Amino acid sequence: MQVFHHVASLREALAEARRDGKTIGFVPTMGNLHDAHIELVNLAREQCDVVVVSIFVNRLQFGLNEDWDTYPRTMQADMAKLRVASCDYLFHPDEAEIYPNGMDEQTKVICPAMTDVLCGASRPGHFEGVTTVVAKLFNIVQPNKAVFGIKDFQQLAVIRRMVEDLCIPVEIVAAPVHREEDGLAMSSRNGYLSEVERPRVAILNQSLIWVSDEIKSGRKDFAALEDEARAKIEQAGFKVDYFSICNSKDLQPAAHDDSEITILGAMYTSGARLIDNVSLSV
Ligand code: PAF
Repeated sequence: MQVFHHVASLREALAEARRDGKTIGFVPTMGNLHDAHIELVNLAREQCDVVVVSIFVNRLQFGLNEDWDTYPRTMQADMAKLRVASCDYLFHPDEAEIYPNGMDEQTKVICPAMTDVLCGASRPGHFEGVTTVVAKLFNIVQPNKAVFGIKDFQQLAVIRRMVEDLCIPVEIVAAPVHREEDGLAMSSRNGYLSEVERPRVAILNQSLIWVSDEIKSGRKDFAALEDEARAKIEQAGFKVDYFSICNSKDLQPAAHDDSEITILGAMYTSGARLIDNVSLSV
C-alpha cells in the first residue's frame, strides 16, 4: 500500500493507473477503522482494479460543540487493517492540503434537499461540510465508483443527490449496515460507549425492527408508532434525538401509500450520539 499526503502525488499515481486502463474505487473515511469500513474496502476491491481509501477528519462537518478534537486518530492501526484489506493507495492529507485557503472562505457545496431534517436538524452545517469535502475528494481522486455505508442513510442520499445535481461522473455504491451480534450498527463512535450502557444500546435497532414489523403487518398509524418507539428507547434510559418513518427517496415523513419506507432513529448515550435505520418495501 502506498501512502500519499499530497494531492499532486496521488493524482500522478492515479493518472498512471487510468492510462493502464484500470478502474478506480474510492472509500472516503475519517479513520478509526472498524470491520464495517473494511467491508466498504472489500466492495471497492470486488468492483474496481485500484482501491483508494482516504482518511481525513474533516473539521468542516463538525459542530462547535462536537468531538472534532477528540475524534480518535488511530493511524497505525488503520494502516495495518488497510494493508490486510489490500488497499492500494491511502490518501492521508492534512488540513492545509484540503483547505489551502483556510475554511472561512472555502467555496462550499450546499445540497438544499434533505439536509435540514433528521441529522441535519440537530447538526446544523454538518451536511454542508460533508458535501464540500466529498466533492473535493471526488475531484482529487476522480473515481469510477465510490462506496458509502447505508448506516449513514441520510448522508448517502445527500451524496447521491449532489452527484446527480452536479453531474459528477462517479457511481455511488451502497454497502449494507454491518452490525455487532446484538444488532448495534458498527460505528467509529461506539468506542465512546460506557460498559454500563453498551448492553442496552441495541434498543435503537430493536425499536427500528419492531416498527418495521408493525408496518409490515399492516399498521399505518405512523405518528403513534413513532411515539411508541420513542417511549421504548426512553424507557431503556436514552434520550431520543429523532425517530421518524420516512419516504426512502426524499426523507420526508412517509405517506400512508408510500411503498419504499425507511425508518431512521438517533439517540444520545452519555458519551455518544448513535444513529441507525431500517428500510422496507410495502
Ligand atoms: O462518513 C464519513 O466518515 C464522513 O462523513 C465522510 C464521508 C468520510 C466525509 O468526511
